[in-house]
Amino acid sequence: MNIKKRLILSNTITIVIPFVVTIIASFLFVFVCSTIFNKDVSYDNFKKFMFIKTELSNTKSTIWKQNSEDMEDPVYQKYLYQKLSNIDGELIILKNNTVIFTSKDINKIDIEKCLLESKVKSQRKVVEIDTLDYIVEVAPLRFKDEALGSAILLAPTFEYAGILEKLIIFIIGVFLITFIGVNIFMSYLFSKRIIKPLSLLKAAVGDISKGDLSLEIIEAGDQEIVDLCADFEKMRIQLKDAVSLKKKYDDNRTMLVSSISHDLKTPLTSIKGYVKGVLDGVANTPEKAERYLKTVYSKAEGMDVMINDLLLYSKLDLSQLPFNFEKTDIIDYFNYCIHESTIELEKFNIKISLINDLKGSKYIKIDRERLMRVILNIIDNARKYMDKEKGEITILLRETNSSIIIEIRDNGCGIDNNDANKIFDRFYRADSARSEAKGSGLGLAIAKQIVEGHKGKIWAISHESKGTSILISFGKISEG
Ligand SMILES: Nc1ncnc2c1ncn2[C@@H]1O[C@H](COP(=O)(O)OP(=O)(O)OP(=O)(O)O)[C@@H](O)[C@H]1O
Ligand SMILES: [Mg+2]
Repeated sequence: MNIKKRLILSNTITIVIPFVVTIIASFLFVFVCSTIFNKDVSYDNFKKFMFIKTELSNTKSTIWKQNSEDMEDPVYQKYLYQKLSNIDGELIILKNNTVIFTSKDINKIDIEKCLLESKVKSQRKVVEIDTLDYIVEVAPLRFKDEALGSAILLAPTFEYAGILEKLIIFIIGVFLITFIGVNIFMSYLFSKRIIKPLSLLKAAVGDISKGDLSLEIIEAGDQEIVDLCADFEKMRIQLKDAVSLKKKYDDNRTMLVSSISHDLKTPLTSIKGYVKGVLDGVANTPEKAERYLKTVYSKAEGMDVMINDLLLYSKLDLSQLPFNFEKTDIIDYFNYCIHESTIELEKFNIKISLINDLKGSKYIKIDRERLMRVILNIIDNARKYMDKEKGEITILLRETNSSIIIEIRDNGCGIDNNDANKIFDRFYRADSARSEAKGSGLGLAIAKQIVEGHKGKIWAISHESKGTSILISFGKISEG
């Protein structure tokens, strides 16, 4: 649910529930009063009560507005009495505590009771006169001769328990209580769905700002908050990736520096040794001097290759080299690769062949030059690590539904099964290779970078001492 909907719903519930509860409670109140306590809570009863009250107060205000002098006028007194007779009321007019008009036989004590009751600040001013209950209203009078008096208005009351007033108080009470209760409950729900997830997010963001990127941001709460959490989670992942990429670059740099210094130091030491030999006159014959200098040259050349490889690897690792992808016929391309390496391989008595299991011509998008470097490095490895009399390298081309798979298999010395995938790590060289063959251990690391730059995969399968297969897969592209 989104916050807007939740707010509308929450506000509606806050209003509707108290109304419904109040209505039900009012009905229950009326039901309990009328059936259990036998109170007449009918509307007619209320109307009758109100009619009496209105007539009484009407008459009272008529008296008030009237000149007090008229109160001594019997015609006016009769008029007032008639007005009250609608409700079976009675009228008593007092002047200086002396009754000057009465419509009812009433004693002094009852008159006093009426006057006293009128002063009481209660809702129901009821006086019992001759076993009958009367509602009493008293209007103060001031006669022309400055004499004070009162007009006592009486109206017979009946069994009316003032239920309406109680009902109104009850309704207001119930409404207020349920309104406050529902409000508290809805606020609690609101806080649970909005404030709680927000505070969790705040804590998570706090962790991020302190550099702790390991904790996943949990998506909870309403839609907007879930979206916000999702965005923060994306940000956290990106930040984490950026941090680990930076760490990778730092490690890479440290590794490169230490490897460069290590791998360059060995040839440099021998170069120094040979040059010193020439300078010290150890190479005392022209032949010896030439041999020394040739060794120096080849060592320097090896260093040059290594530095170039390092630079290439570094650039690939930082994705600084753009690829020039071209749509290429695979079979043509590998025939060309074979053609390029056949002569060199023949020198080492190694045969290279192509087995094509592709159904018809297939195309892939490759950077021909870079991929050539990969293939030639793999073929060169097969040559370098060949221990059989009759060397054989086979390039197998096959396909699955979605990819083209190139397998370059040799029958060389093979690699340890456990090391099969380590060979793609930079500077990794098996112990035998380290001591015997030339190289820096960057060839396959560069190959991996280039293949991954093609969105492809490269992996190795060891056939133990029978040889090694290096496999490359590329996604198919539509033919045409
Ligand atoms: N066909 C193979 N047969 C046996 N071992 C292999 C083969 N290909 C690679 N290796 C092992 O994997 C290691 C890494 O190969 P990689 O091509 O990366 O480096 P390299 O050949 O030693 O040096 P570089 O290619 O940089 O001159 C090699 O040193 C070797 O131990
Ligand atoms: Mg190599």
